[in-house]
Amino acid sequence: MNEKCKKEAVSAITVKKISKHFGSVKPVQNVSFCVEQGEFVTLVGSSGSGKTTLLGLIAGFEKPDTGSIVLQGREIVALDEDQLALMRRKSVGFVFQDFHLIPTLSALENVAFPLYPVKIPEKERNERAQSLLDQMGLSGRADHLPAKLSGGERQRVTIARALVNKPSILFCDEPTGNLDSTTGKEILDLLVSLNVEQGVTLFMVTHDREITKLSNRSLYMQDGEVTYHE
Ligand SMILES: Nc1ncnc2c1ncn2[C@@H]1O[C@H](COP(=O)(O)OP(=O)(O)OP(=O)(O)O)[C@@H](O)[C@H]1O
Ligand SMILES: [Mg+2]
Repeated sequence: MNEKCKKEAVSAITVKKISKHFGSVKPVQNVSFCVEQGEFVTLVGSSGSGKTTLLGLIAGFEKPDTGSIVLQGREIVALDEDQLALMRRKSVGFVFQDFHLIPTLSALENVAFPLYPVKIPEKERNERAQSLLDQMGLSGRADHLPAKLSGGERQRVTIARALVNKPSILFCDEPTGNLDSTTGKEILDLLVSLNVEQGVTLFMVTHDREITKLSNRSLYMQDGEVTYHE
């Protein structure tokens, strides 16, 4: 697989020659690759190789110093903060290793949270959040605060929250990293089923060889560079 998608025009993610530095640290250097719609791609590499930084750039949390990033046919590098926030809200979802749930909100409110800036009536907002909690096997946990949930339950809430805007791309940074192996497997099965059954493009940072085996292909990162594509 070279850096070009077979059909670049309909790619989910096209990254061309992006670089990012923080002072003298250069975590992303001249990286190019492409992910097609509906693919499940893993990003692997040793600690400190730049994976999280690269993910943050592609997902529009940070800007690259140079290069181009196209998500669903739209160049995001030139967007301002408001446009970027809107893009993130509309088209992408995020699942992080350490959950990032709001501790003072219930599971249901956390899931519905990304919908608050969107003009959706409260009833519909809550129905959508409840239906996602149901899908995640958390029907009875809607009123629980994150602190009252297990790690696996918390991660399922973050997945429900990531899906509430019906994103076409899901970015995950070691989504099973903080879970025991059985719970991690359940979460992974859930993510894979979203990919297979609903065609959600999955882009996942992982250290886990078992996960890379399940993905369509892996990108290897070393010292800020994507060294090869499998
Ligand atoms: N905001 C920042 N300011 C300064 N340096 C940073 C910043 N973010 C990341 N770095 C540095 O960039 C390098 C890559 O970090 P990054 O978090 O992307 O690695 P990683 O591959 O995700 O590692 P891990 O597997 O441990 O999560 C590290 O040396 C890190 O210290
Ligand atoms: Mg990381």
